[in-house]
Amino acid sequence: MHKTSEKIGVGIVGCGYWGPNLIRNFLNNKNCGQVICCDLDQTKLEQIQGRYPSLKLTPHYQDLVGSNQVDAVAIATPVNTHFQLARDALQAGKHVFVEKPFTCKAAEAQELIELAEKKKLTLMVGHTFEYSPPVVKIGELISEGALGDIYFISSSRVNLGLHRKDVSVIWDLASHDFSILFSWLKTVPLRITALGKDYVQRGIPDVAFINMEFPSGCLAHVEVSWLAPSKLRRTAVIGSEKMLVYDDTEVMEKVKIYDKGVDYKDPGTFGEFQLSYRAGDIISPRLDNYEPLGVEVSHFFDCIWNGKKPRTDGLSGLRVVQALEAAQKSLENKGHVEQIG
Ligand SMILES: NC(=O)c1ccc[n+]([C@@H]2O[C@H](COP(=O)([O-])OP(=O)(O)OC[C@H]3O[C@@H](n4cnc5c(N)ncnc54)[C@H](O)[C@@H]3O)[C@@H](O)[C@H]2O)c1
Repeated sequence: MHKTSEKIGVGIVGCGYWGPNLIRNFLNNKNCGQVICCDLDQTKLEQIQGRYPSLKLTPHYQDLVGSNQVDAVAIATPVNTHFQLARDALQAGKHVFVEKPFTCKAAEAQELIELAEKKKLTLMVGHTFEYSPPVVKIGELISEGALGDIYFISSSRVNLGLHRKDVSVIWDLASHDFSILFSWLKTVPLRITALGKDYVQRGIPDVAFINMEFPSGCLAHVEVSWLAPSKLRRTAVIGSEKMLVYDDTEVMEKVKIYDKGVDYKDPGTFGEFQLSYRAGDIISPRLDNYEPLGVEVSHFFDCIWNGKKPRTDGLSGLRVVQALEAAQKSLENKGHVEQIG
């Protein structure tokens, strides 16, 4: 079922912290038709009603998936509900947008991918950062070889809270880094290890140090934590030609490219090796200025209309879930090296 002309009716389930961002962006899209919002929590529905008095609201998900005014369902509920809600929507013939992380288990992600394919419906995963201007720009720079071969990537995503009650910091925060890294490197890691601890809530790790090795030999280190004195969103990409720092907390210059590096010179006749260090210009590329979620919503509609494969499709969601499972397993086994795939 591809939509061809009229506007797309959307049902949005989950009106907690993130859901209202989806609601705002769907409502802002000129191709969005009827919007129905659903949450089990009446107070959340009342808050939405206060902001958007004309929206249809329901506490019953079945009303939403059963409505013939709804062509697509967007899911912004806790991850342990994603599979069931997405499966019900696909079975009811609705296109589906699922927030990250896609599902709790790789097998569930696989089942949803197959169901969407069978029903010829669009299935998209909300890996928001893949639509953000700095991440897109860095992906282009890496693809065109501007940094040379990528040696390693090191990322910190830490701040104080929000401590989640349902998932560890790996599932909450590392899902962003995994989707970003896999899209930049256009592949998934061969191996993954993770160390982490549950310092505040028993059984729910709030800090993790994750290491990965990619088929090219590129290494990646991802630090995620809800325990930090200040917010860090910093990723360094070290290439053979140039180095780059992406700081998402910066307002103006989120990406800086450093013409820095070190060259190894063959000893030749001197008998001793020589290293030459290079420290050239620092350039901050111009970035587009748009809200990633708005682009995500437009892309979702485009895929529905034109039967296109989303940039962040079910398969990309599955790859991230596989890596999250591997990191979780490694953490539970005190840093044991886990293979992926
Ligand atoms: N893309 C991003 O950058 C981003 C950012 C934050 C959160 N998220 C994702 O969004 C999702 C929601 O996160 P959140 O922080 O908004 O959580 P939240 O707990 O603040 O809100 C979830 C809401 O879902 C409702 N809910 C739960 N089960 C339901 C059901 N069966 N039917 C109807 N309503 C139900 C709850 O009552 C709650 O209001 C998660 O998957 C999270 O990882 C994505």
